[in-house]
Amino acid sequence: MNSNHKGAKSLGALILAAGEGTRMESSIPKVLHHVGGRPMLFYTLRLANALKPNAIGIVVGHEAEAVKAAVNAMAKDCGINRPIQFIHQKKQTGSGNAVMESVPFLKKFKTAAVMCGDSPLLTYESLYALVQSHDDQKGQVTLLTAKLANPKGYGRIVRSPLGEVQRIVEESVGSSKELSITEINSGAYCFEVESLLTGLKEIGAKGPKKEHFLTDILELMRAKGGKVNAYVSQIPEEVLGVNSRVQLSTAERIMNRRLLERLMLSGVTVLDPASTHVDADVEVGQDSVIYPSTILRGKTKIGKLCQVGPFCYLEDAVIGNECEVRISQIINARLLEKTLVGPFSNIRPESVIGPRAKIGNFTEVKASRIGFGTKVNHLSYIGDAEIKEDVNIGAGTITCNYDGKAKHKTTIEAKAFIGSNVNLIAPVKIGRGAKVAAGSTVTEDVPDEALAIARARQVIKQ
Ligand code: UD1
Ligand code: MG
Repeated sequence: MNSNHKGAKSLGALILAAGEGTRMESSIPKVLHHVGGRPMLFYTLRLANALKPNAIGIVVGHEAEAVKAAVNAMAKDCGINRPIQFIHQKKQTGSGNAVMESVPFLKKFKTAAVMCGDSPLLTYESLYALVQSHDDQKGQVTLLTAKLANPKGYGRIVRSPLGEVQRIVEESVGSSKELSITEINSGAYCFEVESLLTGLKEIGAKGPKKEHFLTDILELMRAKGGKVNAYVSQIPEEVLGVNSRVQLSTAERIMNRRLLERLMLSGVTVLDPASTHVDADVEVGQDSVIYPSTILRGKTKIGKLCQVGPFCYLEDAVIGNECEVRISQIINARLLEKTLVGPFSNIRPESVIGPRAKIGNFTEVKASRIGFGTKVNHLSYIGDAEIKEDVNIGAGTITCNYDGKAKHKTTIEAKAFIGSNVNLIAPVKIGRGAKVAAGSTVTEDVPDEALAIARARQVIKQ
Protein backbone atom coordinates (compact mmCIF):
# COMPACT_ATOMS: atom_id res chain seq x y z
CA MET A 1 0.00 0.00 0.00
CA ASN A 2 1.47 3.38 -0.81
CA SER A 3 1.28 5.78 2.09
CA ASN A 4 -1.03 8.33 0.48
CA HIS A 5 -3.51 5.70 -0.72
CA LYS A 6 -3.21 6.60 -4.40
CA GLY A 7 -3.64 10.31 -4.16
CA ALA A 8 -5.93 12.73 -2.43
CA LYS A 9 -9.35 11.77 -0.98
CA SER A 10 -8.54 8.18 -1.42
CA LEU A 11 -9.15 6.07 1.71
CA GLY A 12 -12.10 6.37 4.06
CA ALA A 13 -12.31 4.26 7.24
CA LEU A 14 -15.82 3.29 8.32
CA ILE A 15 -16.63 1.69 11.67
CA LEU A 16 -20.00 0.02 12.21
CA ALA A 17 -21.13 0.67 15.76
CA ALA A 18 -24.88 1.23 15.61
CA GLY A 19 -26.08 -2.27 16.49
CA GLU A 20 -28.17 -2.97 19.55
CA GLY A 21 -26.00 -5.81 20.81
CA THR A 22 -29.09 -7.70 21.96
CA ARG A 23 -27.10 -10.79 22.90
CA MET A 24 -25.14 -8.82 25.51
CA GLU A 25 -28.37 -8.50 27.59
CA SER A 26 -27.23 -5.03 28.62
CA SER A 27 -28.38 -1.44 28.99
CA ILE A 28 -24.89 -0.36 27.92
CA PRO A 29 -24.27 -0.18 24.15
CA LYS A 30 -22.22 -3.22 23.11
CA VAL A 31 -19.25 -1.30 21.70
CA LEU A 32 -18.83 0.51 25.03
CA HIS A 33 -18.33 -2.67 27.03
CA HIS A 34 -14.76 -2.79 28.28
CA VAL A 35 -11.87 -4.99 27.24
CA GLY A 36 -8.49 -4.26 28.83
CA GLY A 37 -10.07 -1.38 30.74
CA ARG A 38 -11.11 0.50 27.58
CA PRO A 39 -14.36 0.39 25.56
CA MET A 40 -14.08 -2.12 22.72
CA LEU A 41 -14.58 0.72 20.26
CA PHE A 42 -11.32 2.30 21.47
CA TYR A 43 -9.29 -0.41 19.77
CA THR A 44 -11.20 -0.18 16.48
CA LEU A 45 -10.82 3.60 16.44
CA ARG A 46 -7.10 3.36 17.13
CA LEU A 47 -6.71 0.80 14.38
CA ALA A 48 -8.73 2.84 11.88
CA ASN A 49 -6.59 5.85 12.63
CA ALA A 50 -3.36 3.86 12.28
CA LEU A 51 -4.25 3.25 8.61
CA LYS A 52 -3.86 7.01 8.11
CA PRO A 53 -7.16 7.33 6.25
CA ASN A 54 -8.36 10.62 4.85
CA ALA A 55 -11.33 10.52 7.21
CA ILE A 56 -12.90 8.27 9.84
CA GLY A 57 -16.65 7.70 9.93
CA ILE A 58 -18.59 5.88 12.63
CA VAL A 59 -22.12 4.60 12.18
CA VAL A 60 -24.09 5.16 15.39
CA GLY A 61 -27.73 4.36 16.14
CA HIS A 62 -28.60 2.43 19.28
CA GLU A 63 -27.78 4.77 22.23
CA ALA A 64 -26.15 7.07 19.68
CA GLU A 65 -25.56 9.94 22.09
CA ALA A 66 -23.72 7.73 24.60
CA VAL A 67 -21.55 6.24 21.86
CA LYS A 68 -20.78 9.68 20.38
CA ALA A 69 -19.83 11.09 23.77
CA ALA A 70 -17.54 8.11 24.46
CA VAL A 71 -15.90 8.43 21.03
CA ASN A 72 -15.25 12.14 21.50
CA ALA A 73 -13.85 11.50 24.97
CA MET A 74 -11.38 8.84 23.82
CA ALA A 75 -10.45 10.15 20.36
CA LYS A 76 -7.33 11.94 21.59
CA ASP A 77 -6.08 8.83 23.41
CA CYS A 78 -6.55 6.91 20.14
CA GLY A 79 -4.21 9.41 18.48
CA ILE A 80 -7.04 11.14 16.57
CA ASN A 81 -6.68 14.91 16.37
CA ARG A 82 -9.33 15.74 13.81
CA PRO A 83 -13.12 15.54 13.74
CA ILE A 84 -14.68 12.10 13.40
CA GLN A 85 -17.74 11.94 11.17
CA PHE A 86 -20.79 10.44 12.83
CA ILE A 87 -23.33 8.78 10.59
CA HIS A 88 -26.79 8.15 12.03
CA GLN A 89 -28.45 4.88 11.21
CA LYS A 90 -32.12 5.56 11.86
CA LYS A 91 -33.20 1.95 12.29
CA GLN A 92 -30.86 -0.88 13.15
CA THR A 93 -31.74 -3.14 10.26
CA GLY A 94 -28.40 -4.78 9.65
CA SER A 95 -24.81 -4.12 8.68
CA GLY A 96 -25.85 -3.61 5.02
CA ASN A 97 -28.23 -0.86 6.02
CA ALA A 98 -25.55 0.73 8.22
CA VAL A 99 -23.27 1.00 5.19
CA MET A 100 -26.14 2.28 2.99
CA GLU A 101 -26.64 5.14 5.45
CA SER A 102 -22.94 5.91 5.06
CA VAL A 103 -23.06 6.53 1.29
CA PRO A 104 -22.68 10.34 1.57
CA PHE A 105 -19.50 9.74 3.61
CA LEU A 106 -18.15 6.89 1.47
CA LYS A 107 -18.62 8.48 -1.94
CA LYS A 108 -15.81 10.96 -1.26
CA PHE A 109 -13.24 8.15 -1.37
CA LYS A 110 -11.85 5.73 -3.90
CA THR A 111 -11.35 2.97 -1.31
CA ALA A 112 -13.16 2.21 1.94
CA ALA A 113 -11.91 0.13 4.86
CA VAL A 114 -14.99 -1.09 6.74
CA MET A 115 -14.74 -2.71 10.17
CA CYS A 116 -16.97 -3.67 13.08
CA GLY A 117 -16.79 -1.95 16.45
CA ASP A 118 -17.12 -5.29 18.26
CA SER A 119 -13.75 -6.79 17.20
CA PRO A 120 -11.23 -5.39 19.69
CA LEU A 121 -8.47 -7.92 18.97
CA LEU A 122 -7.88 -7.08 15.30
CA THR A 123 -4.23 -6.23 14.71
CA TYR A 124 -2.74 -3.42 12.69
CA GLU A 125 -0.54 -5.91 10.85
CA SER A 126 -3.55 -7.75 9.42
CA LEU A 127 -5.57 -4.65 8.63
CA TYR A 128 -2.59 -3.10 6.89
CA ALA A 129 -2.02 -6.35 4.99
CA LEU A 130 -5.73 -6.37 4.01
CA VAL A 131 -5.55 -2.87 2.53
CA GLN A 132 -2.25 -3.67 0.81
CA SER A 133 -3.57 -6.90 -0.63
CA HIS A 134 -6.63 -5.01 -1.90
CA ASP A 135 -4.36 -2.49 -3.62
CA ASP A 136 -2.22 -5.23 -5.13
CA GLN A 137 -4.97 -7.50 -6.41
CA LYS A 138 -7.08 -4.78 -8.01
CA GLY A 139 -10.34 -6.47 -7.07
CA GLN A 140 -13.61 -4.81 -6.06
CA VAL A 141 -13.52 -6.08 -2.50
CA THR A 142 -11.03 -7.85 -0.24
CA LEU A 143 -12.16 -9.56 2.97
CA LEU A 144 -10.18 -10.36 6.05
CA THR A 145 -10.93 -14.02 6.80
CA ALA A 146 -9.65 -16.59 9.25
CA LYS A 147 -9.71 -20.33 9.64
CA LEU A 148 -11.20 -21.27 13.00
CA ALA A 149 -11.46 -24.65 14.70
CA ASN A 150 -14.89 -23.56 15.93
CA PRO A 151 -16.48 -21.25 13.33
CA LYS A 152 -19.89 -21.17 15.02
CA GLY A 153 -21.73 -17.85 14.83
CA TYR A 154 -19.65 -16.32 12.05
CA GLY A 155 -20.40 -15.85 8.37
CA ARG A 156 -18.76 -18.71 6.41
CA ILE A 157 -16.67 -18.12 3.28
CA VAL A 158 -17.91 -20.19 0.35
CA ARG A 159 -15.19 -20.73 -2.25
CA SER A 160 -15.37 -22.24 -5.73
CA PRO A 161 -13.45 -25.45 -6.48
CA LEU A 162 -10.72 -23.14 -7.83
CA GLY A 163 -10.56 -21.33 -4.54
CA GLU A 164 -12.25 -18.07 -5.56
CA VAL A 165 -14.42 -16.47 -2.91
CA GLN A 166 -18.03 -16.72 -4.07
CA ARG A 167 -20.15 -15.56 -1.17
CA ILE A 168 -20.59 -15.39 2.58
CA VAL A 169 -23.26 -17.50 4.24
CA GLU A 170 -24.49 -16.30 7.61
CA GLU A 171 -24.94 -18.84 10.39
CA SER A 172 -28.71 -18.23 10.52
CA VAL A 173 -29.30 -19.22 6.89
CA GLY A 174 -26.51 -21.70 6.12
CA SER A 175 -27.06 -25.35 5.21
CA SER A 176 -25.28 -27.92 7.36
CA LYS A 177 -22.72 -28.41 4.58
CA GLU A 178 -22.07 -24.67 4.40
CA LEU A 179 -21.85 -24.42 8.16
CA SER A 180 -19.13 -27.07 8.19
CA ILE A 181 -16.84 -24.58 6.41
CA THR A 182 -14.16 -23.37 8.83
CA GLU A 183 -13.08 -20.21 7.00
CA ILE A 184 -15.02 -17.26 8.38
CA ASN A 185 -15.64 -13.57 7.72
CA SER A 186 -13.93 -11.27 10.24
CA GLY A 187 -16.23 -8.35 9.43
CA ALA A 188 -13.28 -6.24 8.16
CA TYR A 189 -13.35 -5.40 4.47
CA CYS A 190 -11.64 -3.20 1.94
CA PHE A 191 -13.97 -2.00 -0.83
CA GLU A 192 -13.60 -0.20 -4.10
CA VAL A 193 -16.20 2.46 -3.31
CA GLU A 194 -17.70 2.69 -6.79
CA SER A 195 -18.68 -1.00 -6.86
CA LEU A 196 -19.72 -0.87 -3.22
CA LEU A 197 -22.22 1.90 -3.98
CA THR A 198 -23.68 -0.02 -6.91
CA GLY A 199 -23.94 -3.24 -4.94
CA LEU A 200 -25.54 -1.62 -1.89
CA LYS A 201 -28.57 -0.56 -3.91
CA GLU A 202 -29.37 -4.18 -4.59
CA ILE A 203 -29.06 -5.79 -1.18
CA GLY A 204 -32.47 -7.19 -0.28
CA ALA A 205 -34.10 -7.39 3.16
CA LYS A 206 -33.93 -10.82 4.80
CA GLY A 207 -35.54 -12.68 7.67
CA PRO A 208 -38.26 -11.69 10.14
CA LYS A 209 -36.43 -8.46 11.05
CA LYS A 210 -36.11 -7.46 7.38
CA GLU A 211 -32.36 -7.02 7.79
CA HIS A 212 -29.87 -6.05 5.13
CA PHE A 213 -26.71 -8.12 5.39
CA LEU A 214 -23.59 -6.38 4.14
CA THR A 215 -22.21 -9.81 3.39
CA ASP A 216 -24.80 -10.32 0.61
CA ILE A 217 -22.96 -7.73 -1.45
CA LEU A 218 -20.27 -10.17 -2.55
CA GLU A 219 -22.57 -12.12 -4.83
CA LEU A 220 -24.03 -8.90 -6.22
CA MET A 221 -20.54 -7.59 -7.01
CA ARG A 222 -19.55 -10.86 -8.63
CA ALA A 223 -22.72 -10.87 -10.75
CA LYS A 224 -21.55 -7.55 -12.22
CA GLY A 225 -18.16 -9.06 -13.08
CA GLY A 226 -16.46 -7.84 -9.93
CA LYS A 227 -13.57 -9.66 -8.32
CA VAL A 228 -13.75 -10.73 -4.68
CA ASN A 229 -10.51 -11.49 -2.84
CA ALA A 230 -9.65 -12.60 0.65
CA TYR A 231 -6.68 -12.06 2.89
CA VAL A 232 -6.44 -14.92 5.40
CA SER A 233 -5.34 -13.81 8.85
CA GLN A 234 -2.17 -15.38 10.25
CA ILE A 235 -3.47 -14.77 13.80
CA PRO A 236 -6.95 -16.37 13.86
CA GLU A 237 -7.75 -15.28 17.44
CA GLU A 238 -7.77 -11.65 16.30
CA VAL A 239 -11.08 -11.97 14.45
CA LEU A 240 -13.11 -12.66 17.61
CA GLY A 241 -16.34 -10.69 17.35
CA VAL A 242 -17.93 -9.95 20.71
CA ASN A 243 -21.66 -10.60 20.63
CA SER A 244 -22.15 -12.01 24.14
CA ARG A 245 -20.64 -11.78 27.62
CA VAL A 246 -19.02 -15.15 27.06
CA GLN A 247 -17.16 -13.79 24.04
CA LEU A 248 -16.40 -10.64 26.03
CA SER A 249 -14.56 -12.73 28.62
CA THR A 250 -12.64 -14.56 25.88
CA ALA A 251 -11.61 -11.21 24.38
CA GLU A 252 -10.53 -10.03 27.83
CA ARG A 253 -8.39 -13.11 28.39
CA ILE A 254 -6.65 -12.81 25.02
CA MET A 255 -6.14 -9.06 25.43
CA ASN A 256 -4.70 -9.60 28.92
CA ARG A 257 -2.29 -12.21 27.65
CA ARG A 258 -1.12 -9.82 24.92
CA LEU A 259 -0.66 -6.95 27.37
CA LEU A 260 1.28 -9.15 29.80
CA GLU A 261 3.46 -10.49 27.01
CA ARG A 262 4.27 -6.93 26.00
CA LEU A 263 5.33 -6.18 29.60
CA MET A 264 7.38 -9.37 29.91
CA LEU A 265 9.17 -8.68 26.63
CA SER A 266 10.06 -5.21 27.92
CA GLY A 267 11.79 -6.67 30.99
CA VAL A 268 9.08 -7.18 33.62
CA THR A 269 8.84 -10.50 35.51
CA VAL A 270 5.25 -11.74 35.78
CA LEU A 271 5.26 -14.81 37.99
CA ASP A 272 1.76 -16.00 37.18
CA PRO A 273 0.21 -14.50 34.04
CA ALA A 274 -2.96 -16.53 34.60
CA SER A 275 -3.80 -14.68 37.83
CA THR A 276 -2.40 -11.27 36.84
CA HIS A 277 -4.61 -8.71 35.16
CA VAL A 278 -3.51 -5.50 33.47
CA ASP A 279 -5.37 -2.79 31.59
CA ALA A 280 -4.21 -1.45 28.24
CA ASP A 281 -2.62 1.75 29.54
CA VAL A 282 -0.64 0.20 32.40
CA GLU A 283 3.12 0.76 32.36
CA VAL A 284 5.70 -1.19 34.36
CA GLY A 285 9.43 -0.47 34.46
CA GLN A 286 12.29 -2.86 33.84
CA ASP A 287 13.16 -5.52 36.43
CA SER A 288 9.97 -5.03 38.39
CA VAL A 289 8.35 -8.25 39.56
CA ILE A 290 4.59 -8.76 39.60
CA TYR A 291 3.52 -11.53 42.00
CA PRO A 292 0.37 -13.66 41.55
CA SER A 293 -3.22 -12.44 41.99
CA THR A 294 -2.45 -8.83 41.17
CA ILE A 295 -4.68 -6.44 39.25
CA LEU A 296 -3.22 -3.31 37.66
CA ARG A 297 -5.90 -1.03 36.31
CA GLY A 298 -6.44 2.29 34.54
CA LYS A 299 -3.40 4.46 34.09
CA THR A 300 -1.30 2.70 36.72
CA LYS A 301 2.39 3.34 36.23
CA ILE A 302 5.01 1.32 38.10
CA GLY A 303 8.69 2.23 38.07
CA LYS A 304 11.78 0.05 37.82
CA LEU A 305 12.89 -2.66 40.28
CA CYS A 306 9.56 -2.71 42.15
CA GLN A 307 7.92 -5.71 43.79
CA VAL A 308 4.13 -5.69 43.51
CA GLY A 309 1.90 -8.44 44.88
CA PRO A 310 0.82 -10.99 45.70
CA PHE A 311 -2.84 -9.93 46.08
CA CYS A 312 -2.63 -6.28 45.10
CA TYR A 313 -5.22 -4.03 43.45
CA LEU A 314 -3.77 -0.87 41.92
CA GLU A 315 -5.91 1.60 39.99
CA ASP A 316 -4.51 4.84 38.54
CA ALA A 317 -1.57 4.44 40.92
CA VAL A 318 1.85 5.89 40.25
CA ILE A 319 4.66 3.91 41.90
CA GLY A 320 8.25 5.16 41.94
CA ASN A 321 11.35 3.01 41.47
CA GLU A 322 12.26 0.27 43.97
CA CYS A 323 8.96 0.28 45.86
CA GLU A 324 7.40 -2.79 47.44
CA VAL A 325 3.65 -3.30 47.69
CA ARG A 326 2.28 -6.47 49.33
CA ILE A 327 -1.36 -7.58 49.71
CA SER A 328 -2.67 -4.02 49.44
CA GLN A 329 -4.90 -1.67 47.50
CA ILE A 330 -3.79 1.66 46.04
CA ILE A 331 -6.21 3.86 44.14
CA ASN A 332 -5.33 7.17 42.48
CA ALA A 333 -2.33 7.74 44.74
CA ARG A 334 1.46 8.01 44.40
CA LEU A 335 4.33 6.23 46.09
CA LEU A 336 7.72 7.87 45.73
CA GLU A 337 10.84 5.72 45.39
CA LYS A 338 11.84 3.03 47.85
CA THR A 339 8.55 3.19 49.72
CA LEU A 340 7.12 0.02 51.26
CA VAL A 341 3.39 -0.62 51.57
CA GLY A 342 1.60 -3.52 53.22
CA PRO A 343 0.66 -6.10 54.00
CA PHE A 344 -3.03 -5.14 54.16
CA SER A 345 -2.80 -1.40 53.51
CA ASN A 346 -5.43 0.71 51.78
CA ILE A 347 -3.99 3.80 50.10
CA ARG A 348 -6.85 6.00 48.96
CA PRO A 349 -7.02 8.85 46.42
CA GLU A 350 -4.83 11.92 46.52
CA SER A 351 -2.20 10.46 48.80
CA VAL A 352 1.50 11.00 48.09
CA ILE A 353 3.83 8.83 50.14
CA GLY A 354 7.63 8.74 50.39
CA PRO A 355 10.32 8.52 49.33
CA ARG A 356 11.58 5.73 51.62
CA ALA A 357 8.41 5.79 53.71
CA LYS A 358 6.86 2.68 55.27
CA ILE A 359 3.14 2.15 55.48
CA GLY A 360 2.62 -1.04 57.35
CA ASN A 361 0.15 -3.62 58.36
CA PHE A 362 -3.55 -2.76 58.35
CA THR A 363 -3.12 0.96 57.68
CA GLU A 364 -5.47 3.23 55.75
CA VAL A 365 -4.23 6.48 54.23
CA LYS A 366 -6.54 9.01 52.59
CA ALA A 367 -5.69 12.33 50.89
CA SER A 368 -2.48 12.66 52.87
CA ARG A 369 1.12 13.59 52.21
CA ILE A 370 3.55 11.38 54.07
CA GLY A 371 7.19 12.46 53.89
CA PHE A 372 10.66 11.01 53.43
CA GLY A 373 11.47 8.10 55.71
CA THR A 374 8.30 8.41 57.77
CA LYS A 375 6.88 5.23 59.27
CA VAL A 376 3.23 4.42 59.85
CA ASN A 377 3.82 0.81 60.60
CA HIS A 378 0.74 -0.64 62.25
CA LEU A 379 -3.05 -0.34 62.40
CA SER A 380 -3.46 3.39 61.69
CA TYR A 381 -5.91 5.68 59.93
CA ILE A 382 -4.26 8.74 58.40
CA GLY A 383 -6.74 11.07 56.67
CA ASP A 384 -6.33 14.67 55.41
CA ALA A 385 -2.89 14.83 56.99
CA GLU A 386 0.43 16.32 56.14
CA ILE A 387 3.21 14.37 57.81
CA LYS A 388 6.74 15.58 57.12
CA GLU A 389 9.98 13.58 57.03
CA ASP A 390 11.32 11.12 59.62
CA VAL A 391 8.17 10.95 61.71
CA ASN A 392 7.32 7.80 63.61
CA ILE A 393 3.64 7.05 64.09
CA GLY A 394 2.95 4.44 66.76
CA ALA A 395 0.62 1.51 66.37
CA GLY A 396 -3.09 2.27 66.38
CA THR A 397 -2.78 6.04 65.89
CA ILE A 398 -5.78 7.71 64.32
CA THR A 399 -6.26 11.14 62.78
CA CYS A 400 -9.78 12.14 63.82
CA ASN A 401 -10.40 14.22 60.71
CA TYR A 402 -14.21 14.30 60.61
CA ASP A 403 -16.44 16.02 63.12
CA GLY A 404 -19.66 14.83 61.55
CA LYS A 405 -19.95 17.90 59.30
CA ALA A 406 -16.55 18.79 57.89
CA LYS A 407 -13.09 17.31 57.35
CA HIS A 408 -10.11 18.87 59.14
CA LYS A 409 -6.38 18.74 58.62
CA THR A 410 -3.65 17.23 60.79
CA THR A 411 -0.10 18.50 60.37
CA ILE A 412 2.87 16.67 61.87
CA GLU A 413 6.25 18.33 61.47
CA ALA A 414 9.55 16.54 60.82
CA LYS A 415 11.07 14.15 63.35
CA ALA A 416 8.01 14.10 65.59
CA PHE A 417 7.31 10.92 67.55
CA ILE A 418 3.70 9.88 68.07
CA GLY A 419 3.26 7.09 70.62
CA SER A 420 0.90 4.18 70.19
CA ASN A 421 -2.86 4.52 70.24
CA VAL A 422 -2.97 8.31 69.94
CA ASN A 423 -6.08 10.17 68.77
CA LEU A 424 -5.20 13.37 66.91
CA ILE A 425 -8.35 15.51 66.94
CA ALA A 426 -8.11 17.68 63.81
CA PRO A 427 -7.52 20.49 63.13
CA VAL A 428 -4.31 20.03 65.03
CA LYS A 429 -0.58 20.53 64.56
CA ILE A 430 2.31 18.61 66.12
CA GLY A 431 5.56 20.59 66.10
CA ARG A 432 8.98 19.60 64.81
CA GLY A 433 10.65 16.99 67.04
CA ALA A 434 7.66 16.98 69.41
CA LYS A 435 6.61 13.83 71.26
CA VAL A 436 3.10 12.63 72.03
CA ALA A 437 2.73 10.06 74.79
CA ALA A 438 1.05 6.76 74.03
CA GLY A 439 -2.69 6.71 74.61
CA SER A 440 -3.08 10.51 74.34
CA THR A 441 -6.09 12.25 72.84
CA VAL A 442 -4.57 15.43 71.44
CA THR A 443 -6.97 18.36 71.01
CA GLU A 444 -4.50 21.28 71.05
CA ASP A 445 -1.40 22.07 69.00
CA VAL A 446 1.90 20.75 70.39
CA PRO A 447 4.89 23.14 70.06
CA ASP A 448 8.25 22.12 68.52
CA GLU A 449 10.34 19.77 70.66
CA ALA A 450 7.63 19.63 73.41
CA LEU A 451 6.16 16.51 75.02
CA ALA A 452 2.38 16.24 75.17
CA ILE A 453 0.68 13.80 77.54
CA ALA A 454 -3.06 13.86 77.27
CA ARG A 455 -4.35 10.83 79.09
CA ALA A 456 -5.73 10.07 82.52
CA ARG A 457 -3.20 9.21 85.18
CA GLN A 458 -3.19 5.59 86.24
CA VAL A 459 -4.93 4.98 89.53
CA ILE A 460 -4.35 1.83 91.49
CA LYS A 461 -7.04 0.85 93.94
CA GLN A 462 -6.89 -2.20 96.13
C1 UD1 B 1 -21.15 -10.05 11.45
C2 UD1 B 1 -21.12 -10.54 10.00
C3 UD1 B 1 -20.52 -11.94 9.98
C4 UD1 B 1 -19.13 -11.93 10.59
C5 UD1 B 1 -19.15 -11.32 11.98
C6 UD1 B 1 -17.73 -11.07 12.49
C7 UD1 B 1 -23.05 -9.52 8.88
C8 UD1 B 1 -24.41 -9.74 8.32
N1 UD1 B 1 -22.47 -10.56 9.45
O1 UD1 B 1 -22.01 -10.88 12.19
O2 UD1 B 1 -20.43 -12.39 8.63
O3 UD1 B 1 -18.61 -13.23 10.62
O4 UD1 B 1 -19.83 -10.03 11.98
O5 UD1 B 1 -17.74 -10.68 13.84
O6 UD1 B 1 -22.52 -8.44 8.75
N2 UD1 B 1 -24.32 -2.94 13.09
C9 UD1 B 1 -24.79 -1.69 12.79
N3 UD1 B 1 -26.10 -1.56 12.46
C10 UD1 B 1 -26.97 -2.62 12.41
C11 UD1 B 1 -26.47 -3.90 12.73
C12 UD1 B 1 -25.13 -4.03 13.05
O7 UD1 B 1 -24.05 -0.71 12.82
O8 UD1 B 1 -28.13 -2.40 12.10
C13 UD1 B 1 -22.90 -3.08 13.48
C14 UD1 B 1 -22.74 -3.61 14.90
O9 UD1 B 1 -22.66 -2.54 15.84
C15 UD1 B 1 -21.45 -4.41 14.81
C16 UD1 B 1 -21.39 -4.82 13.34
O10 UD1 B 1 -22.30 -4.02 12.64
O11 UD1 B 1 -20.33 -3.63 15.12
C17 UD1 B 1 -21.70 -6.30 13.12
O12 UD1 B 1 -23.01 -6.58 13.65
P1 UD1 B 1 -23.27 -7.86 14.56
O13 UD1 B 1 -24.69 -7.86 14.93
O14 UD1 B 1 -22.26 -7.96 15.62
O15 UD1 B 1 -23.05 -9.01 13.46
P2 UD1 B 1 -22.55 -10.50 13.67
O16 UD1 B 1 -23.74 -11.37 13.91
O17 UD1 B 1 -21.47 -10.54 14.64
MG1 MG C 1 -20.61 -9.13 15.96
